[in-house]
Amino acid sequence: MQEPTGSPASAITLQVNGTQHRLEVEHRWTLLYVLREVLDLTGSKAGCDRAECGACTVLLAGLPVYACQMLAVQAAGRPILTVECLAHDGALDPVQQAFLDEDGGQCGYCSPGFLMTTKALLDSNPDPTEQEIKFALAGNLCRCNAYGRIIAAVKAAAALRKAS
Ligand code: FES
Repeated sequence: MQEPTGSPASAITLQVNGTQHRLEVEHRWTLLYVLREVLDLTGSKAGCDRAECGACTVLLAGLPVYACQMLAVQAAGRPILTVECLAHDGALDPVQQAFLDEDGGQCGYCSPGFLMTTKALLDSNPDPTEQEIKFALAGNLCRCNAYGRIIAAVKAAAALRKAS
């Protein structure tokens, strides 16, 4: 973990996956940096670091955001969910299970972002059309080009959630 360097900093509280973290953060630190390097939540990935790939996607107050493009201080006091929130006691979330079943993650680097965007979609729209799935996932890129399997995984996740 990087200690503050003397740049302007503030004490903030980040609410991540239901846990409150009181932290001293430099104003320039991104949410992604703090999640990965300060809180050791390394599920969210750094891909492009410039709002193009979506590998860093987390949910902020239920909506998908690029954690690489948000300062940690901007997220203070708002509920944040990362991919680490999905599995409980060793049991996969239906979204994770569906991606596994449908082989929706090839190299897997983009998967945390796709999983969180899918969770946000299905939380707000439990039965999306294929067009709605494509629209929701438009901000997440898969360099392995596994889009067909990813869309199948989202459909399977919707079915699993309905059945559970
Ligand atoms: Fe944030 Fe690519 S790492 S959008």
